[in-house]
Amino acid sequence: MNIEEVTKLTFPIINDKRGNISFIENSVQIPYDIKRVYYLYDVPANSKRGGHAHRTTQQTIIAVSGSFDVHLNNGIKKATIHLNRPYEGLLLPNMIWREIDNFSSGSTCLVLASEFYDKNEYIRDYSKFIEMTPRHEID
Ligand code: TYD
Repeated sequence: MNIEEVTKLTFPIINDKRGNISFIENSVQIPYDIKRVYYLYDVPANSKRGGHAHRTTQQTIIAVSGSFDVHLNNGIKKATIHLNRPYEGLLLPNMIWREIDNFSSGSTCLVLASEFYDKNEYIRDYSKFIEMTPRHEID
């Protein structure tokens, strides 16, 4: 996976004796306006989420609690990134196939999306996704 395409962001941390606070502002800590926020929680340990790509939506994925693995595929290369820090976000451009698994107990996966939910904007058929990518080198 080309690191220029998928970027790990580090958000500000304000620490004092009461604990930590991190923050994310539109177009400041992430390079797009946030139109939608959703989160996965109470995910069974053996569960797999995702299994799709987005035609246009950009997303930032954050392990606000616990940890999980994000498996990425841009049609050319694959990569797996373990997220376990609430002050880090994985910035995914559009047209990245993603699957998320290995959720730790009590984990929460927060997603900041650049677009409203639109089921027609999803690509859920892997072979169709591969056909849409510039090169077809991946199984
Ligand atoms: P799905 O895309 O399968 O979740 P995941 O990406 O974790 O695999 O979404 C599950 C259901 O939730 C599906 O019926 C669509 C619905 N949904 C919305 O209505 N709005 C949303 O913003 C999201 C992310 C999902």
